[in-house]
Amino acid sequence: MTDSQSTSPSLENLLHETRAFPPSPEFAAQANAQASMYDEAATDRVEFWARQARELVTWKTPFTQTLDWSEAPVAKWFADGTLNAAYNAVDRHVEAGLGDRVAIHFEGEPGDTRTVTYADLQREVSRAANALAALGVTAGDRVVIYLPMLVESVVAMLACARLGAAHSVVFGGFSADALRSRISDAGAKLVITADGGYRRGAPSALKPAVDEAIAPKDGEPATTVEHVVVVRRTEQDVAWTEGRDVWWHDAVEAADTFHEPAWVDAEHPLFILYTSGTTGKPKGILHTTGGYLTQTAFTHKNVFDLKAESDVYWCTADIGWVTGHSYIVYGPLLNGATQVIYEGTPDTPHRGRWWEIVQKYGVSIFYTAPTAIRACMKWGEEIPAEFDLSSLRVLGSVGEPINPEAWMWYRRVIGSDRTPIVDTWWQTETGAIMISPLPGVTAAKPGSAQVPLPGIAATVVDDEARPVPDGGGGYLVLAEPWPSMLRGIWGDLQRFKDTYWSRFPGIYFAGDGAKKDDDGDIWLLGRVDDVMNVSGHRLSTTEIESALVSNELVAEAAVVGAADEVSGQAVVAFVILRGEHADQASTDEGSARIEKTLRDHVAKEIGPIAKPKRILVVAELPKTRSGKIMRRLLRDVAENREVGDATTLADSSVMNLIQTGLAKPTEDEN
Ligand code: PRX
Repeated sequence: MTDSQSTSPSLENLLHETRAFPPSPEFAAQANAQASMYDEAATDRVEFWARQARELVTWKTPFTQTLDWSEAPVAKWFADGTLNAAYNAVDRHVEAGLGDRVAIHFEGEPGDTRTVTYADLQREVSRAANALAALGVTAGDRVVIYLPMLVESVVAMLACARLGAAHSVVFGGFSADALRSRISDAGAKLVITADGGYRRGAPSALKPAVDEAIAPKDGEPATTVEHVVVVRRTEQDVAWTEGRDVWWHDAVEAADTFHEPAWVDAEHPLFILYTSGTTGKPKGILHTTGGYLTQTAFTHKNVFDLKAESDVYWCTADIGWVTGHSYIVYGPLLNGATQVIYEGTPDTPHRGRWWEIVQKYGVSIFYTAPTAIRACMKWGEEIPAEFDLSSLRVLGSVGEPINPEAWMWYRRVIGSDRTPIVDTWWQTETGAIMISPLPGVTAAKPGSAQVPLPGIAATVVDDEARPVPDGGGGYLVLAEPWPSMLRGIWGDLQRFKDTYWSRFPGIYFAGDGAKKDDDGDIWLLGRVDDVMNVSGHRLSTTEIESALVSNELVAEAAVVGAADEVSGQAVVAFVILRGEHADQASTDEGSARIEKTLRDHVAKEIGPIAKPKRILVVAELPKTRSGKIMRRLLRDVAENREVGDATTLADSSVMNLIQTGLAKPTEDEN
């Protein structure tokens, strides 16, 4: 596939001969996770989780009830216990005498650094909680966080949790319009943002998007936001609304360093995180406190084999995604880990930046996405070879299926052919890792997430909800409730039931296709719905189609995710122009202009991450007799494959028309 891959001549043989990589005896001997955990959980799944909740979480009031499934599909875990998430992530470590332990090594993209101990974090979070309280935030409120990767981002989330206010982090790559719809849906009282952040060597702006998002627009009133708190990061000039806008440093520095955490019920909302679904409207996934903390702490400790006193952990995700919530903020901090947080991109100022950071901090556990690994493969293995990566001892992968070639490269080049790799399957909705090998226990298979974790009932079923035999394929489902499961879609119980619990009544439908191999190991095969996975990010085809048709040029649009060597899938859009604009696409220059306009339009409506890689102007779209767009055929076209069975098309000549009218691919500017 690429130069760097072909330098591994034995790959085919290796895959064929070895098939699985058993843990080394040394690793197995000292591993946190033991094979006996599977038996313990199988004996009494609910009691297994109760034990984890008692061991890994500190409760203000201990719980006496474990699981209440009487109002299924809304679960209650540990319902009569009370606790505070920020206390668990920070204060209890300081109280245990670990105040001097480094919590965060921050590395800014320009090279500035900051070291934050647990004692520092306790002071900062307490002050920020006092500052937010002074601005009117109380338990039960929602606070939107729209920030780059900074120490303040972690502090802001924990300050909300300390007050019992739910945070809703919106990824900084989303546009003002996308931010507005999330702020409105959540009914947020306050937004925390920054003047901007550093990305690819230059400051980018964030505050203008917030100003636009919360102002009145097209007859819609201003949002419910009363204050905007602004972190200063880049020294850019920002527009200022007196009385509404507050500098983070002014508010936080003036605040008291003591704050009594709000002790909340286990089922108190911790956060809402918006994710794309099959319709145009993002879903506000709701997570609560006790169960979420239990499972994020358990998985972080056992899947990554964290030894808090000696490991340096680094997860390259952004806090705008669930991976950042569970495996930068809550899981690692609950376990008292020392971690790296890096602000920027892997190729700034050079393509070895990540490996330089691993060397500099002695990172021992590293968690990233297959798309990043494939990009590094493309850049060439001589780049990581320039750095000392010998500190690494566990590697993780998340967000999309990892192809065996990328898995092997990751292990050989980054892991010096010795580190275990954990391929972790989970979702925004599951809150924490659900399927993964356990290092020290599982013989790892390149490309497979393999086994449900102890206490997790993941399986593969057919159309009739019957478990498939080994060797069979079907849909991935979760047959029993788990502690960190979503408790609903914010404000829309019916949609929650329809989306996840109606396909197979009583069991959770994940939306992923999967197969079981002859050993019973699970292989994920990608989404079976209209959700795309681009660079490990979830995007909805319908949402991008809605964005396209909201442009005056477009009459109709169909979007598909086409296979892409680096990003897994790429967004490809087919559009029919409105009659009066149709002739604009008749010249190369005209179609290039249209493509640019529409790509910019999608960036404005949703964000740069959703920009189609290619936009093809067509005269018609393939539809069934009932008017449904046949995306499968469009995917064939986008992937340059022979078009499959088109017999159910209302007009089968449409496909010829589309193929002959194919435009050349546009440059990827994303
Ligand atoms: O399709 C699966 C894919 O990512 C989806 C969840 O996306 P999101 O909620 O954004 O969370 C991503 C980070 C947890 C899943 O439905 N996915 C995630 N991890 C894997 C995966 N597909 C295959 N293998 C994985 N390890």
